[in-house]
Amino acid sequence: MSTPATIRGLTVRDIRARKGGDKIVSVTAYDVLFGRLVDEAGVDLIIVGDSAGNVVAGHDTTVPMTLDQMIYHGAAVRRGAQRALVVVDMPFRTYQQSSAVAIDNCGRVLQETLAPAVKVEGGSPRMAAIIADVVDSGVPVMGHIGFTPQSINVLGGNRVQGRDDRDAQRLIDEAKRLEQAGIFSLVLELMPADLAQRVTEAVRIPTIGIGAGPHCDGQVLVLPDLLGLNDRFTPKFLKQYAQLADTVRDAVTHYGSDVRGGVYPDTDHSF
Ligand code: KIV
Repeated sequence: MSTPATIRGLTVRDIRARKGGDKIVSVTAYDVLFGRLVDEAGVDLIIVGDSAGNVVAGHDTTVPMTLDQMIYHGAAVRRGAQRALVVVDMPFRTYQQSSAVAIDNCGRVLQETLAPAVKVEGGSPRMAAIIADVVDSGVPVMGHIGFTPQSINVLGGNRVQGRDDRDAQRLIDEAKRLEQAGIFSLVLELMPADLAQRVTEAVRIPTIGIGAGPHCDGQVLVLPDLLGLNDRFTPKFLKQYAQLADTVRDAVTHYGSDVRGGVYPDTDHSF
């Protein structure tokens, strides 16, 4: 007897259907604990970003992240999330080479993390052709254009993209090309708000903005930035919704003084 296939929580179809409707709420996460907490807080989409390279591993860029590391983070987040759609970032040098490499590595991420979708960066004709082949192989893909952190060495820093007419048109063309390739949604990172609006209006898939103004179909923030845990990172677009770095420092300082003063553990916390 065969078991009917079921899918837990939101699907890529649900996210796609939100185009022009209720705003899509997204954050990044890297482990089971925050995967569970943000899921319980009702986010629609959890992106297991290769920003783990910055905020978890302490690298200057996302470039050093490996496939095994992303699979580790992706599987952990997936175990924590019940409702939100989990999307795992494909790291640098795991999909750009060819369709065959991309199909193999993206498929591996789905198999080993149990997340239902991946995200890849770039919208050139070559990338769009690879993405079309990955989608055709049965892997849902989210796109990512604008500032694409894996290309930081080409772009010369994390700067706002699409400021002149030619670059703006390039980004609109990339979005349409990726839509044609079959992506189910598109991250727009670091671009002027009016350009993000033009991109959003040019495609029938939802756009998810970060540093791209209010006109996108949804928003994503890197979780430690949103929580004020990564308190040395304060770009203009970021709003901190908590100051957890202070909370952590205060709590651990308090614990340290209790231990040093013989206050902890007391009889209530001893066997
Ligand atoms: O790596 C990351 O955190 C991302 C987000 C901007 C979505 O790509």
